[in-house]
Amino acid sequence: MARPEGPLLLLGAGGHGRVVAEIAEALGWNDIAFLDRLWPELRINLIWPVIGTVDDLNFPTEARKTAFATIGSNRPRLELHRRLIENGFAVPHFVHPSATISRYAVIGRGTVVMPGAVVNAGARIGEAVIVNTGASIDHDCRIGDGVHISPGACLAGQVAVGERSWIGIGAVVRESVTVGRDVMIGAGAAVVMDIGDSQTATGVPARTRTGT
Ligand SMILES: CC(C)(COP(=O)(O)OP(=O)(O)OC[C@H]1O[C@@H](n2cnc3c(N)ncnc32)[C@H](O)[C@@H]1OP(=O)(O)O)[C@@H](O)C(=O)NCCC(=O)NCCS
Repeated sequence: MARPEGPLLLLGAGGHGRVVAEIAEALGWNDIAFLDRLWPELRINLIWPVIGTVDDLNFPTEARKTAFATIGSNRPRLELHRRLIENGFAVPHFVHPSATISRYAVIGRGTVVMPGAVVNAGARIGEAVIVNTGASIDHDCRIGDGVHISPGACLAGQVAVGERSWIGIGAVVRESVTVGRDVMIGAGAAVVMDIGDSQTATGVPARTRTGT
């Protein structure tokens, strides 16, 4: 994880952005500012300044070279994250001090792991992923870029989740199941079979319908 050095720019001043800002603060970042499309109307996000728009990456970058995409929605967050990388920003990952991460797990850039989450040995978490509050990702899981694992969701061992998929709050996924790209797993679902790309699956056991 990057040491908290210099100012930190967060892109997206919504609720998710505020949660990430507080996690960054807990990790020692003390000069935090946001970019958001609501600027200049929006100047303060809770306690942190909003200093420009997300579209205007040139605005503060002379002074701020460390940045992080904090948009809750998976596709725009991943796109923004990739723009940051292309534009030469340093993009850290953030792990809340109360999360438990195996020393044998890998966490990608632009990923945040929230309070109480657990990531076990051999898991590989991609870039711009949200591992939300109290989520559990067991051994050898493969989590693609731009995925969101919602609060309290549990992935058993060797689960694979494709790019930009969203595992809903409190969902469980059986071991060795593959969830495709751009999938929506509904709140509370129990996923016991593979789910193809771009499907929505809900219920116990989870059943699919097309589209996210
Ligand atoms: C699955 C989901 C995406 C469906 O959203 P939607 O397309 O707007 O669906 P609707 O709310 O219009 O509901 C359509 C039907 O699906 C049912 N349904 C919706 N979500 C469901 C779920 N998670 N499990 C079972 N059934 C569900 C509704 O009861 C409704 O049934 P009906 O037609 O018999 O009345 C959404 O309900 C969901 O679970 N999102 C996850 C939210 C989440 O995890 N948030 C965490 C944020 S950090």
